[in-house]
Amino acid sequence: MFKNLVTGAAFALALIPAVSFAAGGEGHVEDFAFSFEGPFGTYDQNQLQRGLQIFTEVCSACHGLKQVPLRTLSDEGGPGLPEDQVRAYAADNFEVFDAALDDFRPATPVDHFPENNGVGAPDLSLMAKSRAGFHGPYGLGLNQLFKGMGGAEYIASLLSGYTGETKEEAGTTFYGNTAFPGGWISMAPPLADEQVEFIDGHANDLHHLSEDVSAFLMWTAEPKMMARKQAGFVGVLFLAVLSVLLYLTNKRIWAPHKGKKTA
Ligand code: HEC
Repeated sequence: MFKNLVTGAAFALALIPAVSFAAGGEGHVEDFAFSFEGPFGTYDQNQLQRGLQIFTEVCSACHGLKQVPLRTLSDEGGPGLPEDQVRAYAADNFEVFDAALDDFRPATPVDHFPENNGVGAPDLSLMAKSRAGFHGPYGLGLNQLFKGMGGAEYIASLLSGYTGETKEEAGTTFYGNTAFPGGWISMAPPLADEQVEFIDGHANDLHHLSEDVSAFLMWTAEPKMMARKQAGFVGVLFLAVLSVLLYLTNKRIWAPHKGKKTA
C-alpha cells in the first residue's frame, strides 16, 4: 500500500516538468526575488514606500486604485506611513468629488484612492491577484507553487518587458512587450531608468522601479498577506500537535488488544 503511494507520487512529480514544457504561447514572465515570497516572507516597508511613490508620480496619471482606502497606508505590514503623513499625502495628491459640497475637495485618509481616468487603463487595486495564476501551464499556477512566481512577477516583467517596437492598428498604437500575452500592449512604456528619484538615493534603474511598484501593487491586492501566513502557520502547528496527541491516544486505546497474538 505504502509502496504504491510512493510510486504514484513519484510518477505524478515526474509528470510536472513535462506539463510545464507543454505550456508556451503565453508571454514570458521573469522570476523576481520578492521579499514576500515563501511561507515566512514579509513585505519590505521601504520597498512599499518607494512603490507608492512610483505609483503616485507615474501610474496614477492613468490608473486608479479605487478599492484601496488611503488610511491603509499607515497600516502595520504595509507602507507604514505615520498618520499625519498619510493625511498630507492624501490632500496633496488627490481630489475627490464630494456630493454634499457638490464640488471637488482634497482627499482625506477616509477616502479611497481615485478611480482610473486614463482611457482603457484598468484599475490596479487587485491586478496583482487577478494575474496571479496567469502563467504556468494552463493557468495551473505551478510556477507560483514551485518558484513563488505570481502576479507581482507578471507586472514587473510587463513593465520591464518592452521591446521598443511599435505598430499601428485601427488608429491605436501598440507596443511590443515580451510579457503581455499576444506580445502587443496599448500601454506605452510607463517607466524608464531614473524616472523617479528617491530621497534615500535608492537604485532607480528600470528593473528596480518595476520591482518596487509591483511589490506595492501586490500589497494593494493582498494587504493582509502577512496575517494570513501567520494564521496558516499557527494552523499547521496546531494540526501537527493534534496529530501527535491522536496518535498517542490511539496507541493507548488499542494497547490492551495489540500484541496479544503472540501471547
Ligand atoms: C498613459 C497612461 C498609462 C500610464 C501612465 C500607465 N498605464 Fe498601465 N495601462 C494603460 C492602458 C491603456 C492599459 C491597457 C493596455 C491593454 O490592455 O492593451 C494598461 C494596462 C496595464 C496593466 C494590465 C496589463 C494586463 O495584463 O492586462 C498593468 C499591470 C499596468 N497597466 C500597470 C501600470 C503601472 C504599474 C504603471 C506605472 C508604472 C502604469 N501602468 C502606467 C495606461 C497607462
